[in-house]
Amino acid sequence: MNTSSLAHQFLLRKDICFLNFGSFGACPQPIFDAYQAYQRELEADPVYFITQSGPAYIKAAREALGQYLNAAADDLVLVTNPSYAVNIVAKSFALSPGDEILTTNLEYGACDRTWQYYCQKAGAVYKRQAIRLPLESEQGFLSDFFAGVSSRTKLIFVSHLTSATGLRLPVEAICQKANALGIPCFVDGAHAPGQLPLDLSGLGAVIYTGACHKWMMTPKGSSFLFVDKKIQDQFDPLVVSWGYQALFPSASRFQDYHQMQGTRDFSAFCTLPKALQFMQENNWPAVAKACRQLAHAHAPALAHQLGSHLLAPLTDEFFGQLVSIPIRLNKISPEALHDDFYHRFRIQIPVMRQGNDVYLRYSIQVFNTAADLAQLAAAIDTLMKENTILPLD
Ligand SMILES: Cc1ncc(COP(=O)(O)O)c(C=O)c1O
Repeated sequence: MNTSSLAHQFLLRKDICFLNFGSFGACPQPIFDAYQAYQRELEADPVYFITQSGPAYIKAAREALGQYLNAAADDLVLVTNPSYAVNIVAKSFALSPGDEILTTNLEYGACDRTWQYYCQKAGAVYKRQAIRLPLESEQGFLSDFFAGVSSRTKLIFVSHLTSATGLRLPVEAICQKANALGIPCFVDGAHAPGQLPLDLSGLGAVIYTGACHKWMMTPKGSSFLFVDKKIQDQFDPLVVSWGYQALFPSASRFQDYHQMQGTRDFSAFCTLPKALQFMQENNWPAVAKACRQLAHAHAPALAHQLGSHLLAPLTDEFFGQLVSIPIRLNKISPEALHDDFYHRFRIQIPVMRQGNDVYLRYSIQVFNTAADLAQLAAAIDTLMKENTILPLD
């Protein structure tokens, strides 16, 4: 682990080599302190916090987030996680029998299941277009993907950065092409905010969700859903509460419907301005760039060691701070291999399934160093010698 002052601000235990920032993020001390301060404020006067100061903090959080994402604050609602956001959309999205939602075969399991569930209920088709890996070019991806468009395609749903395969997909080009065809796009940007610069007004996606508790480092349970004003009224609240037929409606029905969800601890949302301040004070674009460089620098050697290959050309076009390498296991499940990495080698790293394939994915955050990747390489060396992992290619 890095010993820089920034690295020291994370609360992660020091005896584990933490190469899985991607799953749930991790919160630096100043942001966590702000979180606990909000929770103490809540407990000191629950009524005042939940009815008065809390909503004002949420508004400030949406405004700060809107500035960061280049979106109007009222077009963003704060939700617990991207699964929640996908559920809001999928539950209300008007689908008739035979309609199609076009997606890739690289999507996150929870979102995949949500769309599968609602499409099945409506008699619609959730079409997982096969993408050839390794990716060779943006054009190659686009032709694979858009081959799945038909006259019944009602929506495109696609990850900005994929989960198991850790790939950055060309969402700008996807949205542009989809808009030209008159197909609306919903981008699952769970991994994007804090890792990539985002411009929601310029992207061309009518719906976008992102997690704040991953790469923006807020406490768990803070994410957002962006919906273009033109289609906000299509979406019912997932939990119907006081915001439906509100006694005192605000200027935005979208806010009333999705922000008022009954009693809950929304302290994590309130920390967004603090997280954005932390990122700004520490020049986060430069931090993210250095992390990408470290992640990419070690990728070819690790892939070679695993007898495998990278999933795309090693550029910022296709990779962020996640690198995922396909692997071949010998008589061990991905879950058991994960546990082995953790208990035997003291490395927290996900071994992920996507379809029939298995991937070893590492994440690089500011606290990681080359020594962490050397520790990973040493563990891989042992696992290959033991024939637990076999060469893939
Ligand atoms: C691509 C992608 N989408 C969505 C999610 C969101 O998951 P959750 O709703 O459980 O936070 C993740 C989590 O890792 C993800 O990788």
